[in-house]
Amino acid sequence: MQSTSSTVVILGTGGTIAGTAASAADNTGYTAAQIGIKALVDAVPALAGMPLEAEQLAQIDSKDMTHAVWLALAQRVAYHLARASVSGIVITHGTDTLEETAWFLQRVLAPAKPVVLTAAMRPATSAQADGPQNLIDAVCVAHQPGARGVVAVLAGAVHSAHDVHKAHPYRLDAFRSGDAGPLAWIEEGALRALRPWPDDVALGLGLAKLGADAAAWPVVEIVISHAGARGAVVDALCAAGAGGLVVAATGNGTVHESLLSALHRARDRGVQVMLATRCVEGPIVAGRRAPAGLGNHERWPPTTGLSPVKARIELMLTLMPTSMPPQP
Ligand code: SIN
Repeated sequence: MQSTSSTVVILGTGGTIAGTAASAADNTGYTAAQIGIKALVDAVPALAGMPLEAEQLAQIDSKDMTHAVWLALAQRVAYHLARASVSGIVITHGTDTLEETAWFLQRVLAPAKPVVLTAAMRPATSAQADGPQNLIDAVCVAHQPGARGVVAVLAGAVHSAHDVHKAHPYRLDAFRSGDAGPLAWIEEGALRALRPWPDDVALGLGLAKLGADAAAWPVVEIVISHAGARGAVVDALCAAGAGGLVVAATGNGTVHESLLSALHRARDRGVQVMLATRCVEGPIVAGRRAPAGLGNHERWPPTTGLSPVKARIELMLTLMPTSMPPQP
């Protein structure tokens, strides 16, 4: 269906795309989140004259992403999506936690219009700056009729929120979608589809679920199962108030025996445990060898192929009351 709305709202949150270094040759010693979103947009001639609005939501290095910023972002995205004149939203973001923000927004909002996260692997001052083209491609997807849901657009590819992950710390083409692969390529402003656009992974949980105070969100931590793992880590996290634990398990959902009894104790105390594989590609495959149980071979909840960092969001949302109390 052809949309009559045409405005794209660009929300800036910081990241390398807004980063600066002293020299155009410096691609590692820069400071992220220095240039405002209006200046970033104005610096891209191809965007001139387009129906765009730019708004600064945050200005941070995304390694420091907080739940409070996520709450503000979800609220602002929902506000703009509700405007009839808006065809889609672009969010400029750091690459380091982009995949987490993408999944968080998808699960909360499951938007019927496109919400496109984009970023850059080189600062704006670099001779190799990739931000401007990524921004152009992101705006193109945000205008795309039929596009919906939260996606990431980087290096000429469109990735779904469910599958996208940062796979390389330095290369320009740093993002992958694992087994699933990207949704589409963007070539000279046109989308070449590679697989069907997700029709919706899940219904959005809604903003009311989040309440008005991110500090009240359940505490969910990630424990990695590795050689020499110690159950004391689990005990310490529970003592520090964790209400949920995601186990980044080895292989097809296996967990070091040293963690098992501590996880069993945690569950007895009401802490919810969710399993995700630490393998970079592919989901845990159910079958004859169930993931090691916490007793009586019961199975931990599946993560539908989510990475540990996205499973953490999933469990946190699961542990929230149906509707969090609004702030007094
Ligand atoms: C960040 O995640 O904010 C810094 C790194 C990047 O954007 O590439």
